[in-house]
Formats: sequence, structure tokens, C-alpha cells
Amino acid sequence: MGIATLSEELDIKNKDAEHVLGTYARAPFVLSHGAGMTLYDTEGRGYLDFGAGIAVNALGHADPEIVAAIRTQAETLIHACNLYHTAPQAELAAELCALSFADKVYFCNSGAEANEAAIKFARKVGRGAQPGKTQIVAFNGGFHGRTIGSLALTAREKYQAPFRPLMPDVAFAPFNDIEAAEKLIGPETCAVFVEPIQGEGGINAASPEFLTSLRDRCDRFGALLVFDEIQCGLGRTGKLWAYEHFGIEPDVMTLAKALGGGLPMGAVLMTQRVADVIEVGDHGSTFAGGPIVSQVARVVLRRVSDPDMLAHVNAMGELLIRRLAEISSPRIRAVRGVGLMIGIEMNREVRPFIEAGYQNGVILLNAGPNVLRLLPPLIVGEREIEQLVGILNRIVDFTGNS
Ligand SMILES: Cc1ncc(COP(=O)(O)O)c(C=O)c1O
Repeated sequence: MGIATLSEELDIKNKDAEHVLGTYARAPFVLSHGAGMTLYDTEGRGYLDFGAGIAVNALGHADPEIVAAIRTQAETLIHACNLYHTAPQAELAAELCALSFADKVYFCNSGAEANEAAIKFARKVGRGAQPGKTQIVAFNGGFHGRTIGSLALTAREKYQAPFRPLMPDVAFAPFNDIEAAEKLIGPETCAVFVEPIQGEGGINAASPEFLTSLRDRCDRFGALLVFDEIQCGLGRTGKLWAYEHFGIEPDVMTLAKALGGGLPMGAVLMTQRVADVIEVGDHGSTFAGGPIVSQVARVVLRRVSDPDMLAHVNAMGELLIRRLAEISSPRIRAVRGVGLMIGIEMNREVRPFIEAGYQNGVILLNAGPNVLRLLPPLIVGEREIEQLVGILNRIVDFTGNS
């Protein structure tokens, strides 16, 4: 299936180079199809997928239940728009609320859109409480998206500089710095956005004390605590929601990535206090929460919230961290992570290791220049972990500048 000749592969790469806007650094192969933990290129080579489309394919590739949900719903109703009630969206919202702190859900189509919506909701809640209550606090190393609003919350000079002016009234504190955060959060703050476990920033977990102090400070000043669980939510860390590791709940939580099972979906979960402020016409989206993606998300949510699945994520995460820690190389500085959200901090740039991974049949991600990031499908097994460790053992000391 999907085996192309070399000239067909070249043709695809040429068309891509000529006609697709160059915003991505592409891997050197053309992907054709996937099954379970493996992706295949057009030459028939298989790659163990330890990236899951950046934390998206939680159930692996071509999961039969997801395929069946897409097919059945496509034959029933593909699109209706949000002027009409549809059962899949209502059922999904009820299921998300039953499984979380939330009372209401707003659906959208991506992570950036989820944060964008959360910004609007926070601003409206803030203004309703007191004029000028519009400041948003976020943290260094965080990543919240690339739209003008979500980019304004992403403290990365390289991403922000070409696009200024961004959304105003944002202040940053160092991640896990309680004192600095407490200084910033005051009466004018309408929301604090934080990833409980930073993904793009290098797999850095918040300390429980830090999140507790943010919760306290938000309560004191009537600001919303917004958890961006776009990457770390939905079973990735061995609990359904990352916030469960910390014993505190947010007022708002943003989701995307794994939620749509590979189809585009984002969501903002919120308490009734937030929902009460939002009225018809305040926000909206043509495609959001469409019938197909909602039906697929229901499958994802049921499967990743299953206690057996979460126990599997914990067991595989522990095995992976233990086996990675056993790789003895002066190039590895640290192995860290929670569940199946794992970072290997190297003492040099990791780009050459990712290239070497491709040559050895494994897909790896980076998180910043020096951290290799592992976000396998949650269905990863011992066999694939041993294969990965074997490959890493082979490439870790023979790749990149010495
Ligand atoms: C924590 C976090 N928030 C937001 C986003 C943006 O999501 P999207 O790429 O779907 O806009 C990402 C994407 O990597 C993310 O990891």
C-alpha cells in the first residue's frame, strides 16, 4: 500500500517546496500511511512513532474504532454548523463535564483557538468584575500557540519579534517562581495562563507549591486560573487531566491535540461562573464541534479515561524513564517527565539525533534546542520501548558534533 517510485516521491517534495508556504522544516521522507505504533513512508520504510503527530495520535494510527466512528458519522451527517443542535456535540460536552471540574464547554478547532477563546472569556469576566481588569499573566518557557493572542502569551522572542505589536496587557514571570508570580498577579489581573507540565518549553513540570500559590493568588484577586492542557491533558501523564497530579482545579482548561483523534478539535472547559458571563454572539466558529470530530472525540475520551489505559500509561512511562536512565552517555544530562510525556536533555543540539532517528526508523521530537521529546501514542508497548532504547543506544554517542 502506498509505495511510490523515487520519482513520484521527488515530485511530491518538489511540489511541496514550490507551492506550500515554507513555515515548516520537513523530515526527509514522504509519509504514506500508518498502523498502530508505526508510520510508513512512500518507499515502504517503517518508523516507530514516538511523536504521535505532536501528542495527537493517542490511540495510534488507523485505530479501528476511530475509523468506524468517522465512517458511520460521515454517512449520517458531516457538517451542520452551530446554528443547530446535533447529538454528538451535546453528548461530548456532557461527557467532558462529567469527567472534569467543568460545567460548560466551548468547542473550537485547534489549541491556539482554544487559548484565543479562553483569552476572550477571561477578558469579559475581568471587565465585568471591574474596569481595567484586563491583565493576563503567563510564564517563561510556556507555549500557547501562534495566533496574535496566544502568541502574546508565548514568551519566545524568536516567535514574537517579527509580528509585534501583539495583544497588549500581558506580563511574564519565570516558571515555578512563586515570589515573582505573586508580585505580578494583582487586582488588574483577569487570568493566569499556565501549562501544568510545559511541553514545547522542554518537559518541565510545575511544582505543586507553585500551582497552589497561583490558585490562592487567583482566588484572592478574582482572576481566572487557566490550565493549558493542550499537550499534557487527556491521559498523556497517566491521569486523565494533568491537574489531578497537583490536587487543585482550574477555572478554565484548554484542550486540543489528542481530543479529535487526529481530526482538528479544540475545547475550552470552564466553571459556571465563567459561563455565566458569556452571551450569544460573544464568540463562535463555523466548523467547531462538528458531528464527525465530536463522535471521534467521544471515542478518544472513553478510551483514554479508562482506568486500564491510564494504568498502562503509568507502567509504560515508568519503564521508559527507567530504561532511558540506564543509557550511559556523557551526552545525556537528564531524563525527566510524567507518564508518556518525557524529555531527554542533552548537552548539545538534538537536531542531529532526530535525523539519526529517521535513518534508524524512529520518529523523535525536540522541545527547544537541547531536549529530545518523547510523546508516543498511549498504546505504546514494551516491545516498542525496547526497540527505541536499542536505537538510542546506537545513535546517542555517534551522532552530532563530538
Ligand atoms: C501547550 C500547548 N498549547 C497550545 C498549543 C497550540 O496548539 P495548536 O498547534 O493546535 O494551535 C500547543 C501546540 O503545540 C501546545 O503544546
